[in-house]
Amino acid sequence: MYRKYTEKDVAAYYNEMSDVYKLIWDEDGCLHWGIFLEYFGCDLHRAFLYANEVLAHKANIGKGSRILDIGSGCGTTDRYLVKNYDTYVVGLDISFVRLQDALRQRDSEGLQGLEFVMGSARKLPFREKTFSHVWSQACFYYVPGDKNPVIEECYRVLEPEGILIFDDLLQTGEIDSKTRRMVFDRQRFHYAETFAGYEQILKSTGFQIIEIEDLTADMKKTYECLVVNLQRRRHLIVEKFGKTLYDELLKGFTTTVSSLAERRIGWGLFLGKKK
Ligand SMILES: C[S@@+](CC[C@H](N)C(=O)[O-])C[C@H]1O[C@@H](n2cnc3c(N)ncnc32)[C@H](O)[C@@H]1O
Repeated sequence: MYRKYTEKDVAAYYNEMSDVYKLIWDEDGCLHWGIFLEYFGCDLHRAFLYANEVLAHKANIGKGSRILDIGSGCGTTDRYLVKNYDTYVVGLDISFVRLQDALRQRDSEGLQGLEFVMGSARKLPFREKTFSHVWSQACFYYVPGDKNPVIEECYRVLEPEGILIFDDLLQTGEIDSKTRRMVFDRQRFHYAETFAGYEQILKSTGFQIIEIEDLTADMKKTYECLVVNLQRRRHLIVEKFGKTLYDELLKGFTTTVSSLAERRIGWGLFLGKKK
């Protein structure tokens, strides 16, 4: 039997780890996976931005779009969307620390049309048909258990013909004890959806599926580059956060690479339209 986590556990994890991840992942607080063009090499920042660009293009984001970003973290994607596509964005997250960071960065840049709300993906604090787009990167796997309530909530707050675009960590094979410990438990989640599972949930909720894409190779590359980043900054991380945390992160990232290579976990992108 494995341990089950609550949203409270996840919020506590992110409140505690926000500064650590800013040092390793991205100094502005971006915390999703990158999509790589060959000449990017290990330029993670570029791959993170390119992932935003790919999703925005697929979802047909443009002037006048009203977007809800679920699990918005430090709001890096939201600032990108407001600045580059002239949109209105609401970011929602359960981590107080990351929301505070998002508000601070928004205000220091003086951005308009960008709001942040504390809340859960399972119970969105918005009226039905509020948004033209619902967007989410690297969040739904943290929602404890069954993902039906999340997709149903996305459907409810979208206007007719509205677009849902999200990416997520998926279970694509057997979860062995190492993957359970170093990928699932380390990040405080216990259940990831499958490709087929999401396809079924999207259809039964009433979405027309436009695209499902397997981005597992890009997730693997992201973690390979993160291992390099981590090792390069070893001194700084050990000095600021201690060797135990450094060792755990290194083991966590390297196990993620091997779990991806063994097709135990994967990365999926989903695009649907509200019928
Ligand atoms: C891996 S980070 C991704 C952050 C952001 N989407 C990005 O691209 O940088 C996952 C985020 O989801 C948030 N989160 C996790 N579970 C959530 C839930 N049930 N409801 C809302 N947000 C949640 C976490 O607090 C965290 O900020």
